[in-house]
Amino acid sequence: MLPSDAGLENARSVVRECRSLCVLTGAGVSAESGVPTFRGTGGLWRNRDPMSLATPGAFAKDPKTVWEWYRWRRELIRECAPNPGHEAIARIEGEKEDFLLVTQNVDGLHRLAGSRKLVEFHGSIWEVRCMDCARAEEVRSDFPSLPPRCPSCGGLLRPGVVWFGEPIPQAALAASLSMIGRCEVLVAAGTSSVVQPSASFALSVARRGGTVIEVNLEATPITESARFSFRGKTGEILPLLLARISHQRP
Ligand code: OAD
Repeated sequence: MLPSDAGLENARSVVRECRSLCVLTGAGVSAESGVPTFRGTGGLWRNRDPMSLATPGAFAKDPKTVWEWYRWRRELIRECAPNPGHEAIARIEGEKEDFLLVTQNVDGLHRLAGSRKLVEFHGSIWEVRCMDCARAEEVRSDFPSLPPRCPSCGGLLRPGVVWFGEPIPQAALAASLSMIGRCEVLVAAGTSSVVQPSASFALSVARRGGTVIEVNLEATPITESARFSFRGKTGEILPLLLARISHQRP
């Protein structure tokens, strides 16, 4: 069900009038593109232990198995296209004096939709990095064999994503924290808000008097900090919330 006209109109005018806007996205934003989320029905972590696949220890123990899981996800994501939620976020970036998209998604769909002012907080599934010489590059094609090897030094390549227990890359963290410290409005869309440090962003914004707008299928730990909380699909609500002109109901 879509939010009431009044609630949506109020939130929309807050978004339109602010000078500085931050959008924080999670796996829910890509769900309508066919990318599985991590938690909830059909979530990737439902039948799998994240610690056996998404940690440096798991990779050190069995790089082939970890890579098989990433290869499966890369193949799945390669077939996916951005949805109207990604597109609405990409459109609004050019309309704001100060804008940053902080995404926890590693699928690259925001870039495909045209977003350029973005921080990929948990890295990118398309990037690979050598464990020995640290060479990093984007590789979209499949690998002839697993685990893949570095073309420069023959070292083991790893996915360019942030695993549990690893720090967020310094530049991504600094840019995000700076925006969280200054934005007037934070739109948190399609994230369960349980993975730190991004889970605390909404509370930080709300505590210093900024406006938090949440879009999610269900309530989350940040719902109480949000001035507006819309229940529904990001692919349907974000185009209305971020639209330049007032939406009209027939
Ligand atoms: P989760 O899978 O934890 O949460 C997805 C959220 O999206 C849930 O709150 C759903 O209710 C909501 N959702 C699903 N479909 C939706 C839709 N169509 N419209 C609106 N909301 C929808 O994903 P994240 O919060 O992104 O980290 O998870 C955070 C991190 O945990 C991920 O980046 C990943 C994972 O472990 C790493 O891999 C480091």
